[in-house]
Amino acid sequence: MGKKTYRICTLPGDGIGPEIMAEAKRLLAAIGQAEDVEFVCEDHLIGGAAIDATRAAGEPVSALPPETLDAAKASDAVLLAAVGGPKWNDTTPGAVRPEQGLLAIRKNLGLFLNLRPVHIYKALAGASTLRPEFLEGVDILIVRELTGGLYFGEHRRKKDVAGAGVDGASGERAVDTMEYSEYEIERVVRWAYEAAKRRRGKVTSVDKANVLETSRLWREVNHRMMDEFKDVEGGDMLVDNCAMQLVANPAQFDVLVTENTFGDILSDEASMLTGSLGMLASASLGSGTALYEPSHGSAPDIAGKGIANPIAQMLSVELMLRYSFQMDHAADAVKAAVEDVLDEGWRTPDLADEMTPEDRKLGTRDMGTKVIEAFKREIA
Ligand code: IPM
Ligand code: MG
Repeated sequence: MGKKTYRICTLPGDGIGPEIMAEAKRLLAAIGQAEDVEFVCEDHLIGGAAIDATRAAGEPVSALPPETLDAAKASDAVLLAAVGGPKWNDTTPGAVRPEQGLLAIRKNLGLFLNLRPVHIYKALAGASTLRPEFLEGVDILIVRELTGGLYFGEHRRKKDVAGAGVDGASGERAVDTMEYSEYEIERVVRWAYEAAKRRRGKVTSVDKANVLETSRLWREVNHRMMDEFKDVEGGDMLVDNCAMQLVANPAQFDVLVTENTFGDILSDEASMLTGSLGMLASASLGSGTALYEPSHGSAPDIAGKGIANPIAQMLSVELMLRYSFQMDHAADAVKAAVEDVLDEGWRTPDLADEMTPEDRKLGTRDMGTKVIEAFKREIA
Protein backbone atom coordinates (compact mmCIF):
# COMPACT_ATOMS: atom_id res chain seq x y z
CA MET A 1 0.00 0.00 0.00
CA GLY A 2 1.34 3.47 -0.89
CA LYS A 3 1.91 6.22 1.58
CA LYS A 4 -1.18 8.10 2.65
CA THR A 5 -1.15 11.59 1.15
CA TYR A 6 -2.97 14.64 2.47
CA ARG A 7 -3.29 17.78 0.39
CA ILE A 8 -3.14 20.94 2.45
CA CYS A 9 -4.10 24.32 1.07
CA THR A 10 -1.76 26.73 2.85
CA LEU A 11 -2.73 30.41 3.05
CA PRO A 12 0.14 32.48 4.52
CA GLY A 13 -1.71 35.80 4.03
CA ASP A 14 -0.22 39.02 5.41
CA GLY A 15 2.10 40.44 8.06
CA ILE A 16 3.77 37.74 10.14
CA GLY A 17 1.70 35.12 8.28
CA PRO A 18 4.44 33.84 5.93
CA GLU A 19 6.99 33.62 8.78
CA ILE A 20 4.83 31.53 11.11
CA MET A 21 3.49 29.43 8.22
CA ALA A 22 7.05 28.41 7.35
CA GLU A 23 7.42 26.84 10.81
CA ALA A 24 4.09 25.02 10.52
CA LYS A 25 5.20 23.54 7.20
CA ARG A 26 8.48 22.32 8.69
CA LEU A 27 6.48 20.74 11.51
CA LEU A 28 4.19 19.04 8.98
CA ALA A 29 7.23 17.61 7.21
CA ALA A 30 8.52 16.20 10.51
CA ILE A 31 5.12 14.71 11.34
CA GLY A 32 4.92 13.14 7.89
CA GLN A 33 8.29 11.54 8.37
CA ALA A 34 7.47 10.19 11.82
CA GLU A 35 4.02 8.87 10.92
CA ASP A 36 4.78 7.72 7.38
CA VAL A 37 2.25 10.00 5.70
CA GLU A 38 2.83 12.73 3.18
CA PHE A 39 1.52 16.26 3.52
CA VAL A 40 1.54 18.13 0.22
CA CYS A 41 1.28 21.84 0.92
CA GLU A 42 0.27 24.28 -1.78
CA ASP A 43 0.32 28.04 -1.15
CA HIS A 44 -2.52 30.27 -2.30
CA LEU A 45 -3.38 33.94 -1.90
CA ILE A 46 -5.79 35.46 0.60
CA GLY A 47 -6.28 38.82 2.29
CA GLY A 48 -4.12 41.83 1.47
CA ALA A 49 -1.71 39.69 -0.53
CA ALA A 50 -4.60 38.63 -2.76
CA ILE A 51 -5.87 42.20 -3.07
CA ASP A 52 -2.44 43.36 -4.28
CA ALA A 53 -1.97 40.44 -6.67
CA THR A 54 -5.40 40.66 -8.29
CA ARG A 55 -5.03 44.43 -8.68
CA ALA A 56 -1.56 44.07 -10.23
CA ALA A 57 -2.87 41.45 -12.65
CA GLY A 58 -5.75 43.66 -13.73
CA GLU A 59 -8.24 41.09 -12.41
CA PRO A 60 -11.30 41.97 -10.32
CA VAL A 61 -9.82 43.06 -6.98
CA SER A 62 -10.51 40.32 -4.44
CA ALA A 63 -9.36 39.20 -0.98
CA LEU A 64 -10.40 35.65 -1.89
CA PRO A 65 -9.69 34.95 -5.58
CA PRO A 66 -11.78 32.13 -7.11
CA GLU A 67 -8.71 29.94 -7.62
CA THR A 68 -7.95 30.09 -3.88
CA LEU A 69 -11.47 29.01 -3.01
CA ASP A 70 -11.34 26.19 -5.58
CA ALA A 71 -8.00 25.00 -4.20
CA ALA A 72 -9.36 25.13 -0.62
CA LYS A 73 -12.41 23.07 -1.59
CA ALA A 74 -10.26 20.49 -3.38
CA SER A 75 -7.88 20.07 -0.43
CA ASP A 76 -8.10 17.77 2.60
CA ALA A 77 -7.62 20.70 4.99
CA VAL A 78 -6.86 24.42 4.92
CA LEU A 79 -4.12 25.96 7.05
CA LEU A 80 -4.33 29.74 7.29
CA ALA A 81 -1.96 32.16 9.01
CA ALA A 82 -3.35 35.71 9.23
CA VAL A 83 -4.76 38.52 7.12
CA GLY A 84 -4.84 42.32 7.29
CA GLY A 85 -2.61 45.30 7.89
CA PRO A 86 -2.54 49.11 7.80
CA LYS A 87 -1.76 49.08 4.09
CA TRP A 88 -5.30 47.88 3.36
CA ASN A 89 -7.15 49.88 6.00
CA ASP A 90 -9.34 51.58 3.44
CA THR A 91 -12.60 52.45 5.16
CA THR A 92 -14.29 54.00 2.14
CA PRO A 93 -17.60 52.22 1.52
CA GLY A 94 -17.25 49.43 -1.02
CA ALA A 95 -13.46 49.12 -0.66
CA VAL A 96 -12.17 45.54 -0.61
CA ARG A 97 -10.66 44.68 2.78
CA PRO A 98 -8.45 41.69 3.70
CA GLU A 99 -10.89 40.53 6.39
CA GLN A 100 -13.51 39.95 3.71
CA GLY A 101 -11.33 37.13 2.40
CA LEU A 102 -11.45 35.43 5.77
CA LEU A 103 -15.20 35.85 6.21
CA ALA A 104 -15.80 34.68 2.62
CA ILE A 105 -13.72 31.52 2.92
CA ARG A 106 -15.49 30.61 6.18
CA LYS A 107 -18.89 31.13 4.55
CA ASN A 108 -18.03 29.36 1.30
CA LEU A 109 -16.60 26.31 3.05
CA GLY A 110 -19.66 26.19 5.36
CA LEU A 111 -17.48 26.50 8.49
CA PHE A 112 -20.20 27.28 11.00
CA LEU A 113 -18.27 26.04 14.04
CA ASN A 114 -15.11 27.59 15.46
CA LEU A 115 -13.20 25.94 18.29
CA ARG A 116 -10.70 27.84 20.39
CA PRO A 117 -9.16 25.73 23.15
CA VAL A 118 -7.77 27.80 26.00
CA HIS A 119 -5.11 25.72 27.70
CA ILE A 120 -2.80 27.03 30.40
CA TYR A 121 0.83 25.94 30.07
CA LYS A 122 2.24 25.66 33.58
CA ALA A 123 5.50 27.31 32.58
CA LEU A 124 3.59 30.36 31.34
CA ALA A 125 1.36 30.87 34.37
CA GLY A 126 3.62 33.78 35.32
CA ALA A 127 3.14 35.40 31.90
CA SER A 128 -0.60 35.83 32.44
CA THR A 129 -1.98 39.14 33.66
CA LEU A 130 -3.86 37.15 36.31
CA ARG A 131 -2.19 35.79 39.42
CA PRO A 132 -1.22 32.10 38.98
CA GLU A 133 -3.66 30.88 41.66
CA PHE A 134 -6.58 32.02 39.47
CA LEU A 135 -5.31 29.89 36.57
CA GLU A 136 -5.26 26.60 38.41
CA GLY A 137 -7.47 24.09 36.60
CA VAL A 138 -8.26 26.43 33.70
CA ASP A 139 -9.00 24.48 30.53
CA ILE A 140 -11.75 25.98 28.37
CA LEU A 141 -13.10 25.02 24.98
CA ILE A 142 -14.68 28.05 23.36
CA VAL A 143 -17.21 27.06 20.70
CA ARG A 144 -18.07 30.06 18.55
CA GLU A 145 -20.77 30.19 15.88
CA LEU A 146 -18.91 31.39 12.79
CA THR A 147 -21.12 32.04 9.78
CA GLY A 148 -24.17 33.83 11.16
CA GLY A 149 -25.26 36.78 13.24
CA LEU A 150 -24.05 40.35 12.90
CA TYR A 151 -20.97 39.60 10.80
CA PHE A 152 -23.07 38.08 8.04
CA GLY A 153 -26.21 40.21 8.34
CA GLU A 154 -26.96 43.09 6.04
CA HIS A 155 -24.61 46.06 6.42
CA ARG A 156 -25.70 49.36 4.94
CA ARG A 157 -25.75 53.13 5.17
CA LYS A 158 -28.75 55.40 4.81
CA LYS A 159 -27.98 58.90 3.63
CA ASP A 160 -29.93 62.10 4.28
CA VAL A 161 -32.04 60.72 7.10
CA ALA A 162 -34.08 63.47 8.77
CA GLY A 163 -32.83 64.17 12.30
CA ALA A 164 -29.83 61.82 12.02
CA GLY A 165 -27.23 64.60 11.84
CA VAL A 166 -25.38 65.75 14.96
CA ASP A 167 -27.08 69.12 14.87
CA GLY A 168 -30.58 67.73 14.44
CA ALA A 169 -30.43 68.24 10.70
CA SER A 170 -30.44 65.35 8.26
CA GLY A 171 -27.46 62.97 8.31
CA GLU A 172 -26.32 59.38 7.95
CA ARG A 173 -27.46 56.22 9.68
CA ALA A 174 -25.66 52.90 9.59
CA VAL A 175 -27.41 49.56 9.99
CA ASP A 176 -26.10 46.07 10.75
CA THR A 177 -28.57 43.24 11.14
CA MET A 178 -28.35 40.30 13.50
CA GLU A 179 -30.31 37.20 12.59
CA TYR A 180 -30.21 33.59 13.72
CA SER A 181 -32.34 30.65 12.77
CA GLU A 182 -33.03 27.69 15.03
CA TYR A 183 -31.01 25.28 12.94
CA GLU A 184 -27.98 27.61 12.89
CA ILE A 185 -28.09 27.70 16.68
CA GLU A 186 -28.82 24.05 17.23
CA ARG A 187 -25.96 22.62 15.17
CA VAL A 188 -23.46 24.64 17.20
CA VAL A 189 -24.98 24.16 20.66
CA ARG A 190 -25.47 20.44 20.02
CA TRP A 191 -21.79 20.13 19.09
CA ALA A 192 -20.87 21.83 22.38
CA TYR A 193 -22.87 19.27 24.39
CA GLU A 194 -21.32 16.37 22.48
CA ALA A 195 -17.86 17.82 23.16
CA ALA A 196 -18.65 18.29 26.86
CA LYS A 197 -19.37 14.55 27.19
CA ARG A 198 -15.76 13.87 26.22
CA ARG A 199 -14.50 16.57 28.63
CA ARG A 200 -15.64 17.61 32.10
CA GLY A 201 -19.35 17.49 31.25
CA LYS A 202 -20.30 21.15 31.57
CA VAL A 203 -21.66 23.64 29.01
CA THR A 204 -22.10 27.37 29.54
CA SER A 205 -24.20 28.95 26.81
CA VAL A 206 -23.56 32.69 26.59
CA ASP A 207 -26.16 35.17 25.35
CA LYS A 208 -27.82 38.54 26.01
CA ALA A 209 -31.34 37.18 26.45
CA ASN A 210 -32.37 40.10 28.68
CA VAL A 211 -32.17 42.36 25.60
CA LEU A 212 -31.84 40.52 22.29
CA GLU A 213 -34.46 38.39 20.51
CA THR A 214 -31.74 36.31 18.81
CA SER A 215 -30.44 35.51 22.29
CA ARG A 216 -33.89 34.46 23.51
CA LEU A 217 -34.12 31.98 20.63
CA TRP A 218 -30.56 30.86 21.40
CA ARG A 219 -31.54 30.23 25.02
CA GLU A 220 -34.64 28.22 24.05
CA VAL A 221 -32.48 25.97 21.90
CA ASN A 222 -29.96 25.62 24.72
CA HIS A 223 -32.74 24.52 27.09
CA ARG A 224 -33.81 21.84 24.59
CA MET A 225 -30.23 20.58 24.57
CA MET A 226 -30.16 20.62 28.39
CA ASP A 227 -33.23 18.35 28.37
CA GLU A 228 -31.71 16.04 25.79
CA PHE A 229 -28.22 15.76 27.29
CA LYS A 230 -29.11 14.71 30.83
CA ASP A 231 -25.52 13.68 31.56
CA VAL A 232 -24.18 17.17 30.82
CA GLU A 233 -24.53 20.08 33.21
CA GLY A 234 -25.89 22.83 30.96
CA GLY A 235 -26.53 26.46 31.83
CA ASP A 236 -26.92 30.02 30.55
CA MET A 237 -24.85 33.10 31.26
CA LEU A 238 -25.29 36.68 30.12
CA VAL A 239 -22.38 37.90 28.02
CA ASP A 240 -21.48 40.90 30.18
CA ASN A 241 -21.37 38.67 33.24
CA CYS A 242 -19.31 36.13 31.29
CA ALA A 243 -16.72 38.77 30.37
CA MET A 244 -16.37 39.44 34.10
CA GLN A 245 -16.39 35.74 35.14
CA LEU A 246 -13.59 34.94 32.67
CA VAL A 247 -11.20 37.04 34.68
CA ALA A 248 -12.81 36.55 38.11
CA ASN A 249 -13.11 32.75 38.09
CA PRO A 250 -12.03 31.22 34.77
CA ALA A 251 -11.71 27.68 36.20
CA GLN A 252 -15.54 27.39 36.39
CA PHE A 253 -15.77 27.01 32.58
CA ASP A 254 -15.50 23.78 30.61
CA VAL A 255 -17.23 24.25 27.23
CA LEU A 256 -18.38 27.78 26.50
CA VAL A 257 -20.71 28.12 23.50
CA THR A 258 -21.85 31.39 22.00
CA GLU A 259 -22.78 33.32 18.86
CA ASN A 260 -20.33 34.88 16.43
CA THR A 261 -19.74 38.40 17.80
CA PHE A 262 -19.71 37.42 21.48
CA GLY A 263 -17.35 34.54 20.65
CA ASP A 264 -14.98 36.84 18.79
CA ILE A 265 -14.72 39.17 21.78
CA LEU A 266 -14.68 36.58 24.56
CA SER A 267 -12.01 34.45 22.85
CA ASP A 268 -9.58 37.36 22.66
CA GLU A 269 -10.24 38.02 26.32
CA ALA A 270 -9.75 34.35 27.24
CA SER A 271 -6.52 34.14 25.26
CA MET A 272 -4.85 36.47 27.71
CA LEU A 273 -5.32 33.86 30.45
CA THR A 274 -2.62 31.90 28.60
CA GLY A 275 -0.24 34.84 28.74
CA SER A 276 -0.17 35.67 25.06
CA LEU A 277 -2.51 35.79 22.09
CA GLY A 278 0.38 34.04 20.32
CA MET A 279 -0.56 30.74 22.01
CA LEU A 280 -4.16 30.26 20.86
CA ALA A 281 -4.98 28.03 17.90
CA SER A 282 -8.37 27.51 16.32
CA ALA A 283 -10.24 24.99 14.22
CA SER A 284 -13.18 25.88 12.01
CA LEU A 285 -15.38 22.93 11.14
CA GLY A 286 -18.52 22.47 9.10
CA SER A 287 -19.92 20.59 6.19
CA GLY A 288 -16.83 20.61 3.96
CA THR A 289 -13.07 21.02 4.23
CA ALA A 290 -12.00 22.24 7.67
CA LEU A 291 -9.79 25.26 8.25
CA TYR A 292 -7.16 25.79 10.94
CA GLU A 293 -5.69 29.13 11.96
CA PRO A 294 -4.19 30.94 14.92
CA SER A 295 -6.67 33.14 16.81
CA HIS A 296 -4.31 36.08 16.56
CA GLY A 297 -3.92 38.56 13.72
CA SER A 298 -1.15 39.50 11.29
CA ALA A 299 0.83 41.70 13.76
CA PRO A 300 2.06 44.13 11.07
CA ASP A 301 4.22 45.97 13.63
CA ILE A 302 6.60 43.01 13.93
CA ALA A 303 6.21 41.53 10.43
CA GLY A 304 9.44 40.60 8.66
CA LYS A 305 11.53 40.83 11.84
CA GLY A 306 11.66 37.10 12.52
CA ILE A 307 10.45 37.53 16.10
CA ALA A 308 6.80 36.42 15.88
CA ASN A 309 5.69 33.51 18.04
CA PRO A 310 4.94 30.52 15.74
CA ILE A 311 3.30 28.40 18.47
CA ALA A 312 -0.38 29.20 17.75
CA GLN A 313 0.26 28.34 14.11
CA MET A 314 1.96 25.09 15.07
CA LEU A 315 -0.87 24.25 17.49
CA SER A 316 -3.28 24.82 14.59
CA VAL A 317 -1.48 21.89 12.95
CA GLU A 318 -2.14 19.91 16.14
CA LEU A 319 -5.87 20.60 15.80
CA MET A 320 -5.72 19.65 12.12
CA LEU A 321 -4.21 16.27 13.02
CA ARG A 322 -7.00 15.72 15.54
CA TYR A 323 -10.09 16.90 13.71
CA SER A 324 -9.28 16.26 10.04
CA PHE A 325 -6.91 13.29 10.06
CA GLN A 326 -7.70 11.40 13.28
CA MET A 327 -3.97 11.39 14.07
CA ASP A 328 -4.41 11.85 17.81
CA HIS A 329 -1.11 10.23 18.68
CA ALA A 330 0.86 12.76 16.61
CA ALA A 331 -1.38 15.59 17.85
CA ASP A 332 -0.61 14.65 21.47
CA ALA A 333 3.10 14.71 20.62
CA VAL A 334 2.85 18.23 19.17
CA LYS A 335 1.06 19.48 22.26
CA ALA A 336 3.59 17.77 24.53
CA ALA A 337 6.42 19.27 22.46
CA VAL A 338 5.14 22.79 23.05
CA GLU A 339 4.84 21.98 26.75
CA ASP A 340 8.46 20.70 26.83
CA VAL A 341 9.89 23.72 25.05
CA LEU A 342 8.14 26.12 27.42
CA ASP A 343 9.21 24.04 30.44
CA GLU A 344 12.81 24.33 29.22
CA GLY A 345 12.37 28.08 29.37
CA TRP A 346 12.51 28.97 25.67
CA ARG A 347 10.60 32.18 24.94
CA THR A 348 9.72 34.34 21.97
CA PRO A 349 9.59 38.07 22.88
CA ASP A 350 5.82 38.06 23.49
CA LEU A 351 6.31 35.38 26.17
CA ALA A 352 9.50 36.73 27.72
CA ASP A 353 9.63 38.92 30.80
CA GLU A 354 12.37 40.59 32.82
CA MET A 355 13.19 37.21 34.43
CA THR A 356 13.91 35.51 31.09
CA PRO A 357 17.66 34.95 30.61
CA GLU A 358 19.06 36.38 27.39
CA ASP A 359 20.15 32.93 26.19
CA ARG A 360 16.58 31.63 26.37
CA LYS A 361 15.12 34.25 24.03
CA LEU A 362 14.35 32.99 20.53
CA GLY A 363 13.07 34.26 17.22
CA THR A 364 10.47 32.59 15.02
CA ARG A 365 12.77 30.13 13.23
CA ASP A 366 14.60 28.96 16.36
CA MET A 367 11.35 28.51 18.30
CA GLY A 368 10.06 26.46 15.37
CA THR A 369 13.17 24.32 15.50
CA LYS A 370 12.85 23.77 19.26
CA VAL A 371 9.24 22.59 18.92
CA ILE A 372 10.13 20.27 16.02
CA GLU A 373 13.08 18.76 17.92
CA ALA A 374 10.86 18.20 20.95
CA PHE A 375 8.17 16.68 18.72
CA LYS A 376 10.69 14.16 17.37
CA ARG A 377 11.59 13.15 20.93
CA GLU A 378 7.92 12.88 21.97
CA ILE A 379 6.86 10.77 18.99
CA ALA A 380 9.85 8.41 19.14
C1 IPM B 1 -11.02 36.34 14.42
C2 IPM B 1 -10.82 37.67 13.76
C3 IPM B 1 -11.79 37.81 12.61
C4 IPM B 1 -13.18 37.65 13.18
C5 IPM B 1 -11.67 39.12 11.82
C6 IPM B 1 -10.27 39.33 11.29
C7 IPM B 1 -12.69 39.24 10.73
O1 IPM B 1 -10.95 38.67 14.69
O2 IPM B 1 -10.85 35.30 13.75
O3 IPM B 1 -11.38 36.32 15.60
O4 IPM B 1 -13.74 38.57 13.74
O5 IPM B 1 -13.72 36.56 13.06
MG1 MG C 1 -11.19 38.01 16.68
